[in-house]
Amino acid sequence: MKTVLITGANRGIGLAAARQLAGAGHSLVLLCRDEVRGREALAALSPLPPPHEHRLIACDLASPGSVRDAARRIIELRTPIGALLNNAAILPKRRMLTPDGYELQLAVNHLGHFLLTNLLLPRLLAAPRPCRVVTVSSDAHRGPPFDFADPNFERRQYKRTHAYQQSKLANVLFTLELARRTAGTSVEAVALHPGVYDTGLLRDYMGGMPGSGAFGRVFGRNADHGGPILARLAVGHPDEDLNGAYFSKSARSTPSAAAHDQEAWKRLWEWSASAVGLP
Ligand SMILES: NC(=O)c1ccc[n+]([C@@H]2O[C@H](COP(=O)([O-])OP(=O)(O)OC[C@H]3O[C@@H](n4cnc5c(N)ncnc54)[C@H](OP(=O)(O)O)[C@@H]3O)[C@@H](O)[C@H]2O)c1
Repeated sequence: MKTVLITGANRGIGLAAARQLAGAGHSLVLLCRDEVRGREALAALSPLPPPHEHRLIACDLASPGSVRDAARRIIELRTPIGALLNNAAILPKRRMLTPDGYELQLAVNHLGHFLLTNLLLPRLLAAPRPCRVVTVSSDAHRGPPFDFADPNFERRQYKRTHAYQQSKLANVLFTLELARRTAGTSVEAVALHPGVYDTGLLRDYMGGMPGSGAFGRVFGRNADHGGPILARLAVGHPDEDLNGAYFSKSARSTPSAAAHDQEAWKRLWEWSASAVGLP
């Protein structure tokens, strides 16, 4: 049984994956920005036989300081990490910036996960193979190339779908560069479009429509259906080398042409490292 870390584990697809993995006997570390919501999620997991337990660690991906604290607390657990699910995301209407001046979708959806993964990388590399880093992207990444001239929408007009698209493309570029850097090690980096589910993120996007009625019928797969898809990528197919793979739900797929640009992989890695203060 493995220890699996999940960001954004208190609702939606992240919670569904946590429940699925806990039900299969894996030990979860829920990385949530809100303590109360995190505790509620913890209480919803199947308990493990003592002395094993699930844990909650506060982690606000918009704050590099909070991510650093979370990584330190994870390392202090001294538990081999079985998998890391970079799942949390936002899709806000308005353009917002972090105190450091980064556009919030890019900061939460990509930069926070970039920092967390890098801080944990020595532990991930020391874990038994396969140690999967599954980054939840979206088929929404299929858009224009990453705009290195204006990543924070200072010169372009902010459209939240464009900012979301860019952050989800960053998830794939990051995964492919991580796969390149960790080739031949225990780490396997995978990106994923999980499918479309009736979650808070989708409802925010659709303008707060309820998750029932017409909305439910059109988009309305319950997020519970996404749980097994994430869980399988995290701990399933242990004999298959998934390093560098992109999945659309349960099937291997091909990311966009912009995601194949190896120069962009390296450039985004360097830009992100400087943004979060990594060497
Ligand atoms: N739903 C879909 O149809 C769909 C389709 C394609 C891809 N995806 C991807 O699937 C993943 C999960 O999305 P979802 O639909 O399950 O969304 P969701 O229900 O809205 O859940 C998002 C999670 O992210 C957390 N989060 C937000 N801001 C955070 C921050 N600053 N620090 C840490 N955690 C933060 C939220 O915590 P709070 O509760 O504290 O806000 C929540 O737990 C995302 O990567 C999304 O892009 C979803």
